[in-house]
Amino acid sequence: MREYDFIVVGTGVSGLSFALKAAAHGRVAVLTKRSPEVSNTAWAQGGICCVADPQDSFEAHIADTIDAGAGLCEETVVNTIVRSAPAAIDAMIAQGVNFDREPDGSFSLGKEGGHTQRRILHARDTTGREISEKLLAAARHEKNIEILDNHFAIDLVTTAKLGFKGENRIVGLYALDEVNGKIITFRSDRVILCTGGCGRVYLYTTNPKVATGDGIAMAYRAGATVANMEFIQFHPTCLYHHELKNFLISEAVRGEGGILIGRDGKEFMAAYDPRGSLAPRDIVAQAIDHEIKRTGGPCVYVDIAHRSKNYITKRFPNIYETCLSVGIDAARQPIPVVPAAHYQCGGVQTDIDGATSIAGLYAVGEVACTGLHGANRLASNSLLEGAVVATRTFERIMTHQRPGDIAKSYNVPDWISGDAENVDELVVIYHNWDEIRRLMWDYVSIARTDKRLKRASTRLQNLRREVQEFYWNFKICPELLELRNLVETASLIVECAQSRHESRGLHYTLDFPSPNDSMPAQDTLLVREPVTG
Ligand code: SIN
Repeated sequence: MREYDFIVVGTGVSGLSFALKAAAHGRVAVLTKRSPEVSNTAWAQGGICCVADPQDSFEAHIADTIDAGAGLCEETVVNTIVRSAPAAIDAMIAQGVNFDREPDGSFSLGKEGGHTQRRILHARDTTGREISEKLLAAARHEKNIEILDNHFAIDLVTTAKLGFKGENRIVGLYALDEVNGKIITFRSDRVILCTGGCGRVYLYTTNPKVATGDGIAMAYRAGATVANMEFIQFHPTCLYHHELKNFLISEAVRGEGGILIGRDGKEFMAAYDPRGSLAPRDIVAQAIDHEIKRTGGPCVYVDIAHRSKNYITKRFPNIYETCLSVGIDAARQPIPVVPAAHYQCGGVQTDIDGATSIAGLYAVGEVACTGLHGANRLASNSLLEGAVVATRTFERIMTHQRPGDIAKSYNVPDWISGDAENVDELVVIYHNWDEIRRLMWDYVSIARTDKRLKRASTRLQNLRREVQEFYWNFKICPELLELRNLVETASLIVECAQSRHESRGLHYTLDFPSPNDSMPAQDTLLVREPVTG
C-alpha cells in the first residue's frame, strides 16, 4: 500500500495547479493513465477568460456567463470565479506561462461566441499546450510531487465501501499500473479528481482519446452526487475531414472575422441569431445541425480567407498548418466543419471549493459541476474555472483537513483479482465501445426526443450488463476500464436527459422545444448508494 498526503488524478490545469500548491505541505501523488502531456487542457486552443481591457468589466463577464448558462448558473460561483481571474493569470505567469501581448505590452485579447467584449488571453492558437507545458515543468521540479504515468485509477475506496456506517469518507483508491499489470492500493484522506470530461462517449468529438468519463464514473460508483450530465456542449466547428476526425477549428477564428457559410457560399447564422457566427455555442451548433439536415450537405464551412495570409499564419499557426496538412489552405478557401462533442458542463457536484458529497473527495475542472457553466458554458471559462477552483480547493483543505488531521486512519484492503482470465478477444471490447459512441451520437446528441432517449437507455442497459460480466470475468486492462467508465457515463447523460422535460441551454428536445418557465430552473441530480465490499 502506498500512502500520500494528497492524491491527484489527472494532469490538466486543475490537477497541476493543485499539486503545485499542495507540494509545500505534504507528499503529492499525481496519477495519469497515459503520459502527463496528454489532457484536455493541452488540447485547448482558444484561451482563458480574464477581464483585462479598460472597456470591459467583471459585471459584463458575469452577465455573459449567466446569459450563456440559460438560467442554471450559480450566481455566487460565477461572481467569485470571474473576479478571481486576474490572480489566477498572475499565478500562471509566475509559473512561466507566456500569453500573447500587443506591442505596448498589454495582453492581446481574443473574442469568442457569447462574449460581449474581448477578454480571451491566449498563446497563439495553442494556449492549452503552453499552460500544460509550463505547469508540468514546474511540477517536475518539486521533490514532493510524484507523477505516476500509466497509472489508471480504477475505483475510489470510501468508508461506506468498507462497510462503515455514518459519514461517507474517502480513504484511498485502487489503480492499475499499466506497465506491469499490477493493481496498487493507494491510501489518502484527500483525493482530488481532475480527470476532465467524457467527449469520447460520442462518435465525433474534439477531445483526446483519454476523455472517457473516468472521474465521473468512479465518483458516481462511490456514491458522490452527480449533476446536470444532460448538458454536453457540442462545439460548432470541428474540422470535417476523413483523415483528421477530431481537430478543433477554434471559435477564436470566428472571433477574428471568420464567417459560417453553407454549401451555397451564403452566410446563414443571421437568420438564427442577431449575434450571427458569434452567438453562444448551443445556438450555433443547433443552427448548423439544422442547416446540414435542411440542405443534405455533410458539413458547413468557416470562411476566414478574407484575412491576410500573414495574419492567419501568425494568429492561428496550428490551425493553418494542420488544415494545410490535409490539403485545405485556410487563407484561400473555407474550412469544412461539423459540430462535435466538446465539453461536459455537468459532472460531480461540488461547491466552489471543489468539495463533493463524499468527505475528503474533491473534484476540480471539467469533471466537476460547480454551477459556473449552468446549462451552457461560455467559451474559455473552463481553464479559468480549473485554475481558480484548484487554488480554492487547496485553501479549503488547509483550513479544514490539513495532512495529519484525520483522527482515525482506515486500512484499505488490497485488491482481490481472484482467478480472472486475460481478455482473450479485445474485439468484444472495441465492438461495445463503437456501439456506445454510435448510439450516443445518433440518439443523444444535439437534437433529442423522448423516443430516441428511450432507445438509448434500453441499449445501454444491455451493454452495462455485458460490460459488468467482462469486468468480473476478465483481468483488468485499460481498454476494459475505459469501456466500463464510458457505459457508466453515457448512462448518466441519458438518465439526466430523460428527466429534463424542457429544452434549456445545451439540452434540446423536439418533444419539449422551449424552457419550462412555469417554475424556477433546477439542476438534475443523480446519486446512487455506494456498493459495499
Ligand atoms: C475554442 O478554441 O473554440 C475552444 C475554447 C473553449 O472551448 O473554451
